[in-house]
Amino acid sequence: MTRFVVTGTDTGIGKTIFSAALAQATGAPYWKPIQSGLEEETDSETVARLAGVPVRPETYRLITPASPHRAAEIDNVNIDVETLAPPPGEFIVEGAGGALVPVTRTTLYADLFARWQIPVIVCARTALGTINHSLLTIEALRARGVPIHGLAFLGDAAEDSEAIISGISGVRRLGRLPIIDPLNGETLAEAFKANFALRDFA
Ligand SMILES: Nc1ncnc2c1ncn2[C@@H]1O[C@H](COP(=O)(O)OP(=O)(O)OP(=O)(O)O)[C@@H](O)[C@H]1O
Ligand SMILES: [Mg+2]
Repeated sequence: MTRFVVTGTDTGIGKTIFSAALAQATGAPYWKPIQSGLEEETDSETVARLAGVPVRPETYRLITPASPHRAAEIDNVNIDVETLAPPPGEFIVEGAGGALVPVTRTTLYADLFARWQIPVIVCARTALGTINHSLLTIEALRARGVPIHGLAFLGDAAEDSEAIISGISGVRRLGRLPIIDPLNGETLAEAFKANFALRDFA
């Protein structure tokens, strides 16, 4: 069953584009529980545009473009982490930023993932710095008992970096999404098909 959390080593690394590709390939619905910053195209809008899959509305839509804990405070919104969970069945759930981004002053995304016990896909850049960021992210998830499904790399090929991250952590490499230009539903589907195996997400 396609039921995954998509997290990553940082903000702006391509989690939404990977989520859209995975949703498109599997037909699984997408959910971004908390969106902060509504000025630009939201992640849900991007996924709907690229993947054409059902998108569950965000539970919290915060105006301020900041970490959810801070955006909620500025917007005067109270995020209830107790009730924040995906419904049963197929879903691709995207966090915000990296695994240790605070949802509230006392709960991090990784704490939520640990509570949900849904396998996490770690998105990581291939650019310089990724070995450190990726291994730190994996350690932090493991320290909280979060199940890790695999690594999805994003960017130009960096075979040695990808191999050492997977080798040292023992987390399998699912594939790598290259930079796609132009980026649309069709080119995204082609890139996913060429670089990932659908059976790895069953
Ligand atoms: N494989 C790719 N090919 C081309 N452009 C990409 C690719 N991956 C990401 N991008 C572009 O990089 C930018 C950041 O990507 P994306 O929104 O997926 O990041 P994110 O990790 O989801 O960020 P956030 O933490 O804000 O949710 C976007 O403009 C997106 O279109
Ligand atoms: Mg995103």
